Amino acid sequence: MTITGNLFLAPLAGISNRPFRLLARKYGAALCYTEMVSADAIAMKQEKTIRMIDTSPDEHPIGVQLFGSRPEYIAGAVRKVLEFGPDLIDLNLGCPVKKVVRKNGGAALLKNTALAEELMAAAVENATVPVTIKIRTGWEAKSDIYIEVGLIAERAGISAITLHARSRTQGYGVKSDWSKIAHLKREISIPVIGNGDVRTPLDAEEMFKQTGCDAIMIGRAAMKNPFVFRQIRSYLEEGDLVPEMTIDEKIELALEHARMVCDRFGPKGGALMMRKHLSWYSKGFLAGAELRRRLKTVCSYEDISTLLRAYREGSLDVANQ
Ligand SMILES: Cc1cc2nc3c(=O)[nH]c(=O)nc-3n(C[C@H](O)[C@H](O)[C@H](O)COP(=O)(O)O)c2cc1C
Repeated sequence: MTITGNLFLAPLAGISNRPFRLLARKYGAALCYTEMVSADAIAMKQEKTIRMIDTSPDEHPIGVQLFGSRPEYIAGAVRKVLEFGPDLIDLNLGCPVKKVVRKNGGAALLKNTALAEELMAAAVENATVPVTIKIRTGWEAKSDIYIEVGLIAERAGISAITLHARSRTQGYGVKSDWSKIAHLKREISIPVIGNGDVRTPLDAEEMFKQTGCDAIMIGRAAMKNPFVFRQIRSYLEEGDLVPEMTIDEKIELALEHARMVCDRFGPKGGALMMRKHLSWYSKGFLAGAELRRRLKTVCSYEDISTLLRAYREGSLDVANQ
């Protein structure tokens, strides 16, 4: 598998759906991941879940992320996912969410490495594409397990590991500890993808320098500003610090994103999904509070476009009379 670039879009539940992945790619993400998808739900053939693994030809390379805790379901889910032609399959061994860990999935697997190994083996045996894993450092800050899991992964035929350099119990409360990414990189020979707190071009440069990681995965910064991939790429490749998008450019981005989301998820469903993105995109707009208040009520693409265009033309009040 060839990936041209070393900046990846993180799997982001509720965010990294097809329209968002296409935007991330447009701005320079070299590889994008789907949101995490339940292997159990795939086994039960839930239509909404099947839609989550349905990728389009213009978004390769793409990784589909699975979570689960039953090897037979992981095996079946891998076979199903392969029908949609992903470039790789990722296993989630780091999700801290209660609903997931209660069923022994996600970060709970960091407390049960025997089961983690079985899941990796089930995925690798059934996959015809590379299988990767994404982990946190351990369940608690004092119970680091990432080296052990890294060595298990290597043995199991896993092709790369993403380390989000925090423990499960740390949530997002402390800064991620990049020295652990460097440590993992030193101890294993498969590629290591560094993750946690990369927000700017300088952060990315620093993470590569401090850790020697093979690629960087970006989550929250991309979620609020997919343009960050262009900013980081330009800096790393040409030394250019590309300025923030202008307000006009952000409005164009918001409209493009909204169009794609409404086409894919329906006018109302799409508009509801867009509300959070619109609030992020319009942050920092001059006198934007009123715009943001109204963007929270949009119910269609037309609502979104009327508001944004009115704001751009300075006639926001007129548009709503
Ligand atoms: C809204 C949201 C959804 C997430 N969903 C997933 C997910 O589905 N799978 C996963 O492995 N990690 C998920 N994560 C974690 C991110 O992929 C990433 O590891 C984490 O945010 C740290 O990277 P960052 O500092 O660049 O955001 C999610 C994070 C956020 C904020």
